Amino acid sequence: MTVDGTLHWDAARLAAWSEPKLSRVEAALSEWVGVDAPVQLGDAMRYAVLDGGKRLRPMLVFAASEAVGGQAEAALRAACSVELIHAYSLVHDDLPCMDNDVLRRGKPTVHVKFGEAGALLAGDALQALAFELLTPDGEAISPAVQANLCRLLARAAGSQGMAGGQAIDLASVGLALDEAQLREMHRLKTGALLQGSVEMGAACGEALAPGALGALREYGAAMGLAFQVVDDILDVIADSETLGKTAGKDAASDKPTYVSLLGLDGARAQARELLAQALAALDRSTLADTGALRALAHMVVDRDR
Ligand code: IPE
Ligand code: IPE
Ligand code: MG
Ligand code: MG
Ligand code: MG
Repeated sequence: MTVDGTLHWDAARLAAWSEPKLSRVEAALSEWVGVDAPVQLGDAMRYAVLDGGKRLRPMLVFAASEAVGGQAEAALRAACSVELIHAYSLVHDDLPCMDNDVLRRGKPTVHVKFGEAGALLAGDALQALAFELLTPDGEAISPAVQANLCRLLARAAGSQGMAGGQAIDLASVGLALDEAQLREMHRLKTGALLQGSVEMGAACGEALAPGALGALREYGAAMGLAFQVVDDILDVIADSETLGKTAGKDAASDKPTYVSLLGLDGARAQARELLAQALAALDRSTLADTGALRALAHMVVDRDR
């Protein structure tokens, strides 16, 4: 039970909520990604984005938009744009100059299939497309909402967010980070885009009271950090087939992680503590319709892939 007396969603209810949204996202991405690009580039972009991925970030956009009564067209475009930034970050993360991975979403990585230059350019083009999607012609999304969505996505993706975190990650190989340093790295490289997804969903509705917006941000920050703690755990306990990416990569590459710092039990306890923080923030938000946000936070911590 939550503090307001509502029942937690079970897996079936989350699946029923997600399914139509997942279909909408897949159809929109297929319509928008890589269609007018020169053939090799278009193929690489579509390979990177379509047929794979949990689509957690789009679901967070929809859940936050739902919590604030957001506008549907803005939410769909925001959901797809954040997934494009995520997909681009994975393409670059897997490059030989970064994590040097050959398996992603159950398939050979983009650079294995299309070459390093092809992967670099596919990432570049996906990033640009993300912002193009947020600025459509016509009246459907007001200029103020378009600008706000672009700003939120840019901040989450750039030097104060994902790219900054990736820089810290690469500079930290072989180092024993303390918990504050590790938290900062994870907050930026992964948390920022997840928190950004929540903020973008909220930006699809009318302006929120500062207290409610602050609480949603805290939810996003705690859930986003929990996500990377669980990614660190899964790298140790899951197999490559389940993950769709090479398991055991962090220890093999001497990366500092929550497991290397706290051990498996310590990392699990940390993830549960962050889940509790995320749910408490939703309670404070006083928003009525937070069922999906709650269920997604549980899913982030309880997932097996
Ligand atoms: C993997 O993200 C990369 C991290 C930020 C840890 P996901 O686990 O969401 O990857 P997909 O989208 O489902 O492939
Ligand atoms: C990547 O973190 C975060 C990104 C910004 C892509 P990881 O390097 O741990 O992600 P995986 O494990 O390869 O998916
Ligand atoms: Mg990495
Ligand atoms: Mg990686
Ligand atoms: Mg990882």
